[in-house]
Amino acid sequence: MAQQEDVFKKIVSHAKEYGFVFPSSEIYDGLSAVYDYGQNGVELKNNIKRYWWDAMTLLHENIVGIDSAIFMHPTIWKASGHVDAFNDPLIDNRDSKKRYRADVLIEDHLAKFDDKIAKEVAKARKRFGETFDEAMFLQTNQRVLDVKARRDALHERFAKAMNDNDLAELRQIIIDEEIVCPISGTKNWTDVRQFNLMFKTEMGSTADGSMAVYLRPETAQGIFVNYLNVQKTGRMRIPFGIAQIGKAFRNEIVARQFIFRMREFEQMEMQFFVRPGEELKWFAQWKEWRLKWHKALGLGDEKYRYHDHDKLAHYANAATDIEFEMPFGFKEVEGIHSRTNFDLSQHEKFSGKKIQYFDPELNESYTPYVIETSIGVDRMFLSVLCSSYEEQALEGGDTRVVLHLPAPLAPVKCAVMPLVRKDGLPEKAREIVDDLKFDFATHYDEKDSIGKRYRRQDAIGTPYCITVDHQTLEDGTVTLRERDSMEQQRVAIADLHALIHDKVSINGLLRKLR
Ligand code: GAP
Repeated sequence: MAQQEDVFKKIVSHAKEYGFVFPSSEIYDGLSAVYDYGQNGVELKNNIKRYWWDAMTLLHENIVGIDSAIFMHPTIWKASGHVDAFNDPLIDNRDSKKRYRADVLIEDHLAKFDDKIAKEVAKARKRFGETFDEAMFLQTNQRVLDVKARRDALHERFAKAMNDNDLAELRQIIIDEEIVCPISGTKNWTDVRQFNLMFKTEMGSTADGSMAVYLRPETAQGIFVNYLNVQKTGRMRIPFGIAQIGKAFRNEIVARQFIFRMREFEQMEMQFFVRPGEELKWFAQWKEWRLKWHKALGLGDEKYRYHDHDKLAHYANAATDIEFEMPFGFKEVEGIHSRTNFDLSQHEKFSGKKIQYFDPELNESYTPYVIETSIGVDRMFLSVLCSSYEEQALEGGDTRVVLHLPAPLAPVKCAVMPLVRKDGLPEKAREIVDDLKFDFATHYDEKDSIGKRYRRQDAIGTPYCITVDHQTLEDGTVTLRERDSMEQQRVAIADLHALIHDKVSINGLLRKLR
């Protein structure tokens, strides 16, 4: 675990050193849980967004996109339930003066039981070698069974307290389990209180009478309140979806783990409107489609798992997370929720406008049910970054840091390098850049030794380096070096475009989703 934490620290500093992610307002000592994306980060982020957007709007003829405003009428947040119930249970440690989410403290404690079981399995595997039967061991080993029983009992107690919104019971669990503050190491806890996560501000001048508005905590409500506009103007027929990418804001109590939990972040959300009664069929379908989207990136199928929710929001009849194995454990990257007709019904009630769909096949009107897929751009970015980072030992005792980014997401697709800065090689290299740059993000680099230039490109995940040498001037060929294998092949300049396109285009990813 400590080793994983070290790796994570290295990834965070690599992200800064190579222009992916900077702490916000750094020259003023930063702003907690707010980050800026640098010159490479913004390209990686845009490519992630492009992959999602195209997968939604190009591959599904019944999904269209919108871009709604961040500010919305404040009643929207009353109707959606966010004003009254978008809360986290917080608890303070009196000694360290640090504030925590009570549910996160308990979840972290629960994860320790799983770590214990994993350790027992690892020990037994070492002892029994080839003959080890993990499934049998998990079912029969008394120590494992005891840990599992304690974990399951605690899990049940925790789920009940969360479902009942029982703050006193959450505190009691923390006391009974002897959970200590990671900073002070003490159990000197305050009561658990509810804390609303929405940022509030004023719109209009006070002289005219200002209005309190919120920074949206999710993009989804912008889709719900535009349901009628899109359905009517786009003549959409159910089932259909509306997709949106945009900023969301939450005043998170505990902002930790770099860009995993931020106060300003970005979401990619899609609301899929279906017939009442068909929602669970569509929920299952979207669960499958979304996992396929993730897996197509090739980060490793074993790094994903579903986590079905114990605590369903009062309006949901099914919910699951897609979790990804980060250096700090399996964590939620995307939520898939069956939200029933709650949101549209609430907006109908609060706005007084009829929000219904006339289904010509059934010859009846109804409030559509909704399946939502909601993924955080920044968490997706983090999962891609973490699983791509490698410190690689090379033959001859050399090392390199390489980002094995999926090529279609890489910020720079190819770098063109003249072997030396004379003899007409820079001019030839520039010629190649001037041709490739219309289709691919292309860098020109002539500084330092060729080895150093390769390392610089490896560190930002550039899939291809093209080297122009004296032979290029004679026969129109260059060396094409591939990032992961470091293999070099001699290819004709005329073939470069097709070779690079094959590997780096987002179309290649999209075709895997068919
Ligand atoms: N409309 C549903 C919704 O907002 P959510 O589970 O609260 O559901 C969806 O958020 C996704 O947004 C999460 O799976 C996560 O990827 C991302 N997300 C939520 N809070 C975040 C935060 N504070 N920082 C970064 N990403 C966040």
